[in-house]
Amino acid sequence: MKHLLNPLDLSVEEIDEILDLANDIEANPEKYAHACDGKKLATLFYEPSTRTRLSHEAAMMNLGGNVLGFSSADSSSATKGESVSDTIRMISCYADICAMRHPKEGAPMVASQYSSIPIINAGDGGHQHPTQTLTDLLTIRSEKGRLHDITIGLCGDLKFGRTVHSLIHALVRYENVKFVLISPEELRLPSYIRKDVLDKHNIPYEEVVRLEDAMGELDLLYMTRVQKERFFNEEDYVRMKDFYILDAAKMELAKEDMLVLHPLPRVNEISVEVDRDPRAIYFKQAQYGVYVRMALILTLLEIKVS
Ligand code: NCD
Repeated sequence: MKHLLNPLDLSVEEIDEILDLANDIEANPEKYAHACDGKKLATLFYEPSTRTRLSHEAAMMNLGGNVLGFSSADSSSATKGESVSDTIRMISCYADICAMRHPKEGAPMVASQYSSIPIINAGDGGHQHPTQTLTDLLTIRSEKGRLHDITIGLCGDLKFGRTVHSLIHALVRYENVKFVLISPEELRLPSYIRKDVLDKHNIPYEEVVRLEDAMGELDLLYMTRVQKERFFNEEDYVRMKDFYILDAAKMELAKEDMLVLHPLPRVNEISVEVDRDPRAIYFKQAQYGVYVRMALILTLLEIKVS
C-alpha cells in the first residue's frame, strides 16, 4: 500500500501523473464528482490548520466521499494519553484514507507502520509537508509552464519551515533549478539539507540576507511565515518576525513575470498591497491545493476515472 510521507515517496513520473490528473480535474470537475462515492477520509489534526485540513476535506467531498476527524489534539483521545499507533489502528476500521498533521517529526511515518489504509502526511513538525509541495509544483507548472530552468528565491524561516524543506527535496530532481536562500543568519536552511540535498546533487544556490539583493534575478519568490510555534523563546520570535516585508516598492525590483507564492497563512511578510499585483498568485495556489489533493486521494485509493 502506498502512503505519502515525504515528497520523495513519489517518483518524478508519478508526480507528473498526479499534476496531469489535477489539471484534468480542474478542467472537468463533473467527471470526478462521484469517483469516491461511499469512501471516507479521516483528518487527524493534532496541530492547527486551516487550508490543509479544509482542502483535504473539500477534495474528498468534491469526489463524492465523506469526511470525519478532529481538528485539535484536545478533542481527541491524545489528551487521555493514547498513542498515535493505537489511534491509527482504530481509524483504519473507520475510514478508507487518512490525512494526519502532528507536531512531532515522524508521527505520520509511525502511523503508516500500524495502518491498513493510506496515510497522507499533512505536516509533521518542522520536517516535511508533501501535499503543500504537490500544491506548489502544480501552481508553478500551471502558471509558469515548467518546473525546470527556474531560479527560485525561498525567503523567510528556512530553518523551521517544513514547506521549504519539502519543496527543495522535490525541485532538485528537475533540470537547471537554482535556489536563492534568503533568510536571517538565525533562520538559515539547516545544514543537513544544504549538505545532503543541495551539495550532494551539485545544485547551484546562494545565500543572501537582504531580499532586495535577490529580487532582480528571480523567476519565482516563495515567501514563508516565521514559524512562531517552533521557537524556544518569545524574544527570538519577536526579533525575527518582521525581518522581511514584501511590499509594492520591493516588487518593482522584480522581473515582470516573476511570480510570488506563499503556502499561507501570511502574517506580516507580504503587505496586503501586493495582493493587487497580478504576479501575486498565493490565493490561486490555495485553490490548486484542492485539485491536487483530489488527484492524490484518487491515486492513493487506486481509483481510475475514464
Ligand atoms: C504551512 C504549514 O502548516 O507548514 N501552512 C500550510 O499548510 N499551508 C505554512 C505555515 O504554517 O507557515
